[in-house]
Formats: sequence, C-alpha cells, structure tokens
Amino acid sequence: MAAKDGKSETCRAPDVRDLGRWDIGLGILDVGLCSLDFAHWTLGIGLPKLSPMPDLLVNLLNLPPLESQLKQLASHGVLIRRAQPFELTAVRDFIRKHFSVGWADEVSVGFANKPVSVHIATLNSKVIGFAAHECTRKDFFGPAGVAPDMQGRGIGKALLLASLLALRESGYVYGIIGGAGPVEFYQKTVGATLIAGSDPGIYTDLLK
Ligand SMILES: CC(C)(COP(=O)(O)OP(=O)(O)OC[C@H]1O[C@@H](n2cnc3c(N)ncnc32)[C@H](O)[C@@H]1OP(=O)(O)O)[C@@H](O)C(=O)NCCC(=O)NCCS
Repeated sequence: MAAKDGKSETCRAPDVRDLGRWDIGLGILDVGLCSLDFAHWTLGIGLPKLSPMPDLLVNLLNLPPLESQLKQLASHGVLIRRAQPFELTAVRDFIRKHFSVGWADEVSVGFANKPVSVHIATLNSKVIGFAAHECTRKDFFGPAGVAPDMQGRGIGKALLLASLLALRESGYVYGIIGGAGPVEFYQKTVGATLIAGSDPGIYTDLLK
C-alpha cells in the first residue's frame, strides 16, 4: 500500500501532512485513523465514497511459524522485537513521518501497557516498521506499517505474527484486526476471515 500517495485501494494510512484529506471545494475533512479510506471517491458527483473497512478474525491457534522468518530477516540485519518504553519518541516519530499522527497517538497507548504491546522492526538501530496490539480495544491488532522503501521483504508479516503471538500468549484464542485495510494481506499471511456486519466498526464519529 502506498500510504502517502493515496493510490491504495485498501486501508489508507493517512499522511501526517495530509491526514486523509479531501477537498472538494466545499470544505476539508481531515481524518487520521486506519479504518477510513478516502482513496475512492466519486468525482462525478463530488462526494467521497467510503470503501468497506471490515474487521477480520484470526484464529491464533493456527498461526504460521515465525522463527525461520526471524532468522532470515536477521541475516539481512533486520530485527523484530518488542519496543522498549524509552523508545516511544523514536517510534512515534517514525509513524508520524511515514503514516499519521492518529496512528502515533494510537500506538502511544501500547507503550503504556506492560509489557509494551508494540513490536518494531529495526535496521542499523533505526525503526523501519511497527505493529501494535491492544491499543484502541482489547484483543485488537493494529495499527501497523513498514517504511515504504522496506515493504515487500517479509517485514510486515513478521511484525504481524509477532503481535498476534503476543495476543495468544496473553490468553486470547482469536484476534481481531479492526478496520482492516489490506484485507488480502491478512487473509494470505494469517488466514484472517471477514467478520460479517463489522463495517462500520469502532472508527466512527471521528473528530475533525
Ligand atoms: C501492509 C504492510 C504492513 C505489509 O508489509 P510488507 O512488509 O510490505 O509485507 P510483507 O513483505 O511481509 O508481505 C507478506 C506477504 O503478503 C503480501 N502482501 C503484502 N502487502 C499486501 C497487500 N496490500 N495485499 C495483498 N498482499 C500483500 C506480500 O506479497 C507477501 O506475499 P508472499 O509471502 O507470497 O511474498 C505494508 O504494505 C504497509 O505498511 N502498508 C501501509 C500501512 C498499512 O496499510 N497498514 C495496515 C493498516 S490496517
């Protein structure tokens, strides 16, 4: 997903400088949350068309193994690990730079959890990706993102698995991906299934 150019047809990660902004001459609506997708709109009648952003269910008992993937990434210098409390600013800065303030705020809640419910990918001691769970709701996965120039290398999948395994370790049998954007990514990597009637979910009545 190209988070900053609006090309994605999935969950749009709003840019910090342009938080899901659409301007149709009548006003500007700024939205900063994962579950809204303003990439689709109907220019003909000048109104935005919201894409479905369903919640997904993941069976945490059927997750694919993570170990071999961790080793492979490590051989390229990419480490996947839980974030430390004192890394809040570095992680927030990464999220604000590549995604949005809204996601940075959401993830801040994960830094208040013990243990921290945020995993990061690092390369040369820099953040290149993140995945959070239990931030906006209990048992929820997300938000998550990988730096655009690092995508397509298995980092997003490893972060997702690390988060879901943490959910399992904390006692859940099923995990929820709230307001999922790249639905196919979740279906493919962890066998996620659509939760019927889940759209709209919790991301409603958003502040402008
Ligand atoms: C979604 C995202 C985290 C995936 O990270 P990534 O590191 O690029 O993904 P991976 O390289 O681990 O991909 C794992 C597999 O999923 C596939 N995949 C990745 N993104 C996909 C997508 N949007 N749709 C379908 N399949 C996708 C890959 O092709 C790969 O398949 P393979 O194992 O057959 O090679 C990343 O694209 C991203 O940061 N997107 C912007 C933010 C975002 O949308 N976050 C989710 C919000 S709900």
